[in-house]
Amino acid sequence: MSQSFPVLLADSDATLALGRELGQAAQAGDVIALVGDLGAGKTTLTQGIVDGLDYQQEVTSPTFSLVQQYLGGRLEVFHFDFYRVEGEHELLDLGWDDYLDRQGLVIVEWPTLHPNLLPKNTRWLKLSHREEGRLVEEGLTR
Ligand SMILES: Nc1ncnc2c1ncn2[C@@H]1O[C@H](COP(=O)(O)OP(=O)(O)OP(=O)(O)O)[C@@H](O)[C@H]1O
Ligand SMILES: [Mg+2]
Repeated sequence: MSQSFPVLLADSDATLALGRELGQAAQAGDVIALVGDLGAGKTTLTQGIVDGLDYQQEVTSPTFSLVQQYLGGRLEVFHFDFYRVEGEHELLDLGWDDYLDRQGLVIVEWPTLHPNLLPKNTRWLKLSHREEGRLVEEGLTR
């Protein structure tokens, strides 16, 4: 992948641009876990990823529906938010394993709330607030 981390993103346009690169590079079956506090830019980055897969849709935080799907692009995208998920069982009942098997791209906000659900091939990205914007680091940094 061409993106190199850590990277400092000065504004939301930079977050979108990084997302587009990630979307263009995404492969069937990829899983991206987006770690970061409230307002860190997880949904903005997801919007860029979805744009990078040539969807025109607006991405909103899936806080109230647990998963948003984007279908018909180069890869199907399943965007989860674990923030309001009570327990792993809720996701398993929703068909979590089937989503992983669908050879699309799974993106998860708040993955550390149910880390055991994330498969080994998960790409972990951590966003954090900086005075200059947002810092993005790669790897499981808790
Ligand atoms: N690099 C950046 N620099 C400054 N602001 C940014 C940057 N990237 C995104 N933002 C802004 O931060 C705000 C919050 O972004 P976003 O909704 O993507 O966060 P989030 O991590 O999804 O939050 P939540 O945890 O509530 O879901 C938005 O107003 C967005 O435009
Ligand atoms: Mg969000």
